Amino acid sequence: MAEERVAIQLIVNGRAVRGQVEPRMLLAYYLRDELGLTGTHVGCDTSQCGACTVLLDGLAVKSCTVLAVQADGCHVTTVEGLAEDGQPHPVQQAFQEEHGLQCGFCTPGALMLSAWLVDHHPQADEAAIREALDGLICRCTGYENIVRAIQRAQALRQETAEPLAGRAQGGVSR
Ligand code: FES
Ligand code: FES
Repeated sequence: MAEERVAIQLIVNGRAVRGQVEPRMLLAYYLRDELGLTGTHVGCDTSQCGACTVLLDGLAVKSCTVLAVQADGCHVTTVEGLAEDGQPHPVQQAFQEEHGLQCGFCTPGALMLSAWLVDHHPQADEAAIREALDGLICRCTGYENIVRAIQRAQALRQETAEPLAGRAQGGVSR
């Protein structure tokens, strides 16, 4: 028997969306399958890889650990919404400049985690950056270029304006 569906409404990448979801549906699958935002990758489904990281009210969260119903009333930002006013977010520019990716599978999550870090902890030193990356599994880069990209994004952010508008200060979930 099909589960009863629950009405939710949230703001995704600045756009109001409404939906009817099964209570057990994960946010990652709501974004991908219901909204077509396939930039959010699912690598493990068990809260280990971080490829599914999005911002939930400013908090970097693994969207495979959040139910869609828990996002009801929240602001969600995915990698598709990371650019600002048509310009790449500093982490997007920096990942390109510093070659912070190879196969690209972890990259959406890496970008969202890095954006949270750069916007909320702009002075994070290398040790803090590496600690923040603890919840991200990248099989390709060895992390060195990701760390360099985040440091480059910190510098770029200092030259530009505000962090992601309208999003609360937040932490990171691992
Ligand atoms: S798919 Fe969510 S942590 Fe791997
Ligand atoms: S770039 Fe391939 S997993 Fe990170």
